[in-house]
Amino acid sequence: MKTEADFDFYDKAVEDRAPEAWSELGRKHPIYHYRGRFDFYVSSDYDDIKNNILVDNDTWLYSRGTSPKELDPRMACGMMTEPPHHNGIRIIVQRGFTPKQLERIAVEIDQLADELIDGMQAMPEKRGNFFKLFAMPLPARLMCRMLGAPEEKHLQYKQWADEFMYDHYNNKTDSAEAGEKAQLIAASLSGLIAERRRVLQEAGVTEPSLQEVGTVLPDDFISRFICDKVDGRHLTEWEIISLLLSIINGGNETTMNLISNLLWRLLEKPERWEQLKANPDLIPNAVEESLRFDPPLLGMFRTTAKETELKGEVIPEGEKVMYSIAAANRDPAIWENPDEFRLDRDMATLRKHVSFSGGSHLCLGIHLARMEVRQVFEKLVERLPNLRLTGEPVIVPGFSFWGLVDLPVAWD
Ligand code: HEM
Repeated sequence: MKTEADFDFYDKAVEDRAPEAWSELGRKHPIYHYRGRFDFYVSSDYDDIKNNILVDNDTWLYSRGTSPKELDPRMACGMMTEPPHHNGIRIIVQRGFTPKQLERIAVEIDQLADELIDGMQAMPEKRGNFFKLFAMPLPARLMCRMLGAPEEKHLQYKQWADEFMYDHYNNKTDSAEAGEKAQLIAASLSGLIAERRRVLQEAGVTEPSLQEVGTVLPDDFISRFICDKVDGRHLTEWEIISLLLSIINGGNETTMNLISNLLWRLLEKPERWEQLKANPDLIPNAVEESLRFDPPLLGMFRTTAKETELKGEVIPEGEKVMYSIAAANRDPAIWENPDEFRLDRDMATLRKHVSFSGGSHLCLGIHLARMEVRQVFEKLVERLPNLRLTGEPVIVPGFSFWGLVDLPVAWD
């Protein structure tokens, strides 16, 4: 095991080719001790990740944060907890992703996609940054609708979430400072919660239940979190805020990244785009291959609850360990020529990627994200068939997220 900081996750040259660089590191060192801007271990072995780190909750703690920094203890509630309490929290969130809810959301996705494409088609210059014009606003606006937050504030929420996440993964400031940033978003969410409580009060509801969702209150996450119960009690104000933050932080940038990463791979080799247009049935495979090859989240952290071993290396108690999604997704024992982006991989093998994590923290937005991005690409091939790259994309700055902030394209 290497102990020197000779592979620097924070080096711009590494950041710019992170999935390749991280998997090269993993092939040489399935377990690696990084001592640079932060001190943490990195696990890159598919089997260790899938069958140990993601399933053994007694050893690999989630409640101490999923970044290289110790989580502000004020935030260790809601989603950021351990089973069995965590299981109850997941049930509450899952109510927002039932087949009936997804059916409703599917209509909104098509409507938003059409509106954004109309906007692009109305631009006389017929060129621009696809991330800003489409990949960013669609998930951000949809997220506001799902939460019950004002849609016109989507850019503000995105900026807050970006700052919050960047801080957690990149800045060596203490967690209290990051906590201060969370307070900004929290204040805004608090106002929305207070507004809903006022409506309940005016309707004479003193003991809200899920019956009030979609009747007295709008059918969205804020209402559900106010009315639902965990362990036989209502959620506290801070638990509600923390859950809303988990959804904003976990669901926004990831989906934006997936949309722009996939379009980038399709347009950088125009024959891929042609292939997809000729056979839109390939869209689900393209989405999965993008998730595998360009994971929107490159790696997430756990904290060891006790001394443990990975690949014969002892990791002491209380250490931060990152599971490298990027490296696991390029395991040559599972995917033939894993460093190639291909549209002809079979779905069963493709879906072995760990881009949505696994075990008791498997992404709760998994079905929504897949559905959203499939629908987006169905619209794009139909309505913007002549999309093409006009320059070099710009990679999102910082550690852990993998996406683009500029994807220059033209269309007719
Ligand atoms: C391409 C899109 C997405 C990707 C790649 C992704 C990825 C992930 C990953 C890797 C985790 C696990 C984090 C960990 O192990 O520490 C996670 C958890 C989670 N995701 Fe997603 N996500 C996506 C979209 C979404 C969306 C759209 C939502 C909600 C609207 C969402 C909500 C969540 C939540 C609430 C969790 C926490 C689950 C738990 O701790 O039990 N995600 N996601």
